[in-house]
Amino acid sequence: MKIVIIVPTYNENENIGRLVAELECRFQVIATHEMHILVVDDNSPDGTAGTVREMQKNNARLHLLTGAKAGLGAAYIRGMRHAVDVLGADVVFEMDADFSHKPEDVSRLLAAIEAGADFAIGSRYVPGGKIPENWGLLRKSISRYGNVVARYLAGLYRIRDCTAGFRAIRSRVLKQINLDDLKVQGYAFQIALLHKAIVQGAKVKEIPVEFVDRTQGSSKLGLKDIREFMLHALMIRFDDSRSFIKFSIVGATGLVVNLGCFGLLLGFGMNKYLASPLAIELSILWNFFLNNLWTFRAREVLFKISTRGVIFNLVSLLALCLSFSTFLVLNHLFPNVLPYVHQIVSVVPAVVVNYFLNSRWTFRETKKTAPGEEVPS
Ligand code: GDD
Ligand code: MN
Repeated sequence: MKIVIIVPTYNENENIGRLVAELECRFQVIATHEMHILVVDDNSPDGTAGTVREMQKNNARLHLLTGAKAGLGAAYIRGMRHAVDVLGADVVFEMDADFSHKPEDVSRLLAAIEAGADFAIGSRYVPGGKIPENWGLLRKSISRYGNVVARYLAGLYRIRDCTAGFRAIRSRVLKQINLDDLKVQGYAFQIALLHKAIVQGAKVKEIPVEFVDRTQGSSKLGLKDIREFMLHALMIRFDDSRSFIKFSIVGATGLVVNLGCFGLLLGFGMNKYLASPLAIELSILWNFFLNNLWTFRAREVLFKISTRGVIFNLVSLLALCLSFSTFLVLNHLFPNVLPYVHQIVSVVPAVVVNYFLNSRWTFRETKKTAPGEEVPS
């Protein structure tokens, strides 16, 4: 496979030469793959690019992109597009220039990809992973809380180290993501890309690594990055909740349809025991069509409409049973509370289960070209 290690740099002249040399040494033991390095430098005033150009003279697998300073994320986006579209990489790496990520760990991440992962993370927060012992409280907190925000606010629960900057990613995952659409400039890129990869169904694997503190130069993480990171985590949460919000709105209109039809049918003189289930079924159908036309419109769904209709009805029936049993339990536990309260509260689990099952089952998406299934070249 063709592997491109992307190293973004801003004022890393003291590190970049040594890093390239050390990576080259390590590459000798990864002889089965074609290893390249792509440095993405933002016109560092300290002459980082000059050092790389000098080394390029006797290294055809060392590449350089230069440009105006626009942030870590912007640099990675440029670098990944170049690695995939121009260099034709099968796998790209993210790696810092300051030796925080050990060159010898490159082969460990690569092994995870070879074993079937699409997205391998050099993780500090799985057993065996480490952060520098000399990190101050502030640096530790930024890293810790950054991950708490990513996991619980943005919803990336399953991943322990969401902000890691040492990762190996299969190009086919990147090809399914519109990198220009990530809308991130700085360090928020790490969670933005991870989130998109998970949505695409990428197989993520965390490999424990020891993160070493830099000895040369200084960190570029600033307040602006932290602000962008928080905003982006919120945006991910909102994006993911959007279909749930739409589904709930549809449900509320369904309630109006239910009562309206019930009233109309009674007005036409229909027996109430017939009018009630008929009104319920009409509202279920109403909800079904609105969810088709609006909530899940963007989905390429697996089942044909008649099958979806049947499943939707089944799920509604289940939600009804759930709601009614909650009602019975609440009545039993709190006999002195108004039955209206029980009735309202019992709607909650029904809505959640209703959404969950319809989203996962009724409106299930056709399988995308599953990233794990292609035969690696
Ligand atoms: N081209 C470019 N442009 N490179 C940049 C920029 C930029 O605006 N900002 C930072 N870099 C480069 C640095 O030169 C370095 O090679 C790498 O990106 C990481 O930057 P550091 O400044 O050393 O980051 P850090 O040590 O604070 O953060 C590390 O840990 C974070 C999580 O705690 C990185 O691994 C981050 O990616 C990670 O999110
Ligand atoms: Mn660093």
